[in-house]
Amino acid sequence: MLLPSYPKSRPRRLRATPAIRSLVRENNVSHSHLILPLFIKAGLNGKKEISSMPGHYQLSLKDLATEINEIQHLGIAAVILFGIPANKDDYGSDAYSDQGIIQQAIKTIRIIAPDMLIIADICFCEYTSHGHCGIVHQTSRGADVNNDHTLELLKKTAVSYAHAGADILAPSGMMDGMVETIRAALDQNDFSHLPILSYAVKYASSLYSPFRDAAEGAPAFGDRNTYQMDLANGNEALHEAALDVQEGADMLMVKPGHTYLDIIWRIKQAYPHLPLGAYHPSGEFAMIKAAAKKGWVDEKQAVKEILTSMKRAGADFIITYYAKEFCHWQNSAVPA
Ligand code: PBG
Ligand code: ZN
Repeated sequence: MLLPSYPKSRPRRLRATPAIRSLVRENNVSHSHLILPLFIKAGLNGKKEISSMPGHYQLSLKDLATEINEIQHLGIAAVILFGIPANKDDYGSDAYSDQGIIQQAIKTIRIIAPDMLIIADICFCEYTSHGHCGIVHQTSRGADVNNDHTLELLKKTAVSYAHAGADILAPSGMMDGMVETIRAALDQNDFSHLPILSYAVKYASSLYSPFRDAAEGAPAFGDRNTYQMDLANGNEALHEAALDVQEGADMLMVKPGHTYLDIIWRIKQAYPHLPLGAYHPSGEFAMIKAAAKKGWVDEKQAVKEILTSMKRAGADFIITYYAKEFCHWQNSAVPA
């Protein structure tokens, strides 16, 4: 394509006023693209603020009800749920108990907000006594998560959340075959209509540490490097995504999002027909909060910039701890 050069071409003409900038803006973040993570803890009296995540709480079921009313009013249409059970054991059995905290939370939300989109994260790190994302077996190199044993328990958990009323199942443990296994289990139990949002590409990141305080799910020994991806790898992300697409994932996710914009871009180019999510992780929320508190960055502008960068890279929707604040800002916005 032949472009006229300066002085015929003057890109500044289309930046002259707020109205024209808005007219030619390529990407917008709207409240309808945002998913709010919530933490619900069994046996809690009242809500408890998470110290590394100001404004976020571990909620009791009662406080969950209050929170849902508030966010519905704000315009948030989707939540992703994380549970902290009363009891942890080697098998994470509260995850697939029909009386489990997430099963109760799903039912609570469904009554208060029938139209709220309820995404159930499926993993075991919050439910196991050792804090790993699956069932730990001894190997010749020490303890490690056993893939296929974990798949058996993932089936039960997915079906239990589906029975409770979840709208979307989101396995986050990076087990091989997790999508195929959950798809088959859902189909066999009359839940063929429920979509799977796969954490297809999840890196072993340093940006999850506040989440681990919130969900009380830090590994008691070792790390997650045998199941989450090596952060130096990009081509491998395409392989992970390809497998999940073949296994029947309805939607894919890249996590973390902001520090992996190249991966969002590549996955979207490879699978433009599949909705793609990006996870804006707890560590990044904490960093922006801390800098904003010191007056070192403008919180609102920084958050808008980062969320927009994920959309521009190709994300269709974003899981973010800033969902509520974003809606507040949007609702009180004067046109910019
Ligand atoms: C658990 C899980 C984690 C997050 C979402 N699901 C933590 C981890 O993998 O250790 C991270 C969320 C965040 O940091 O906001 N599998
Ligand atoms: Zn996990």
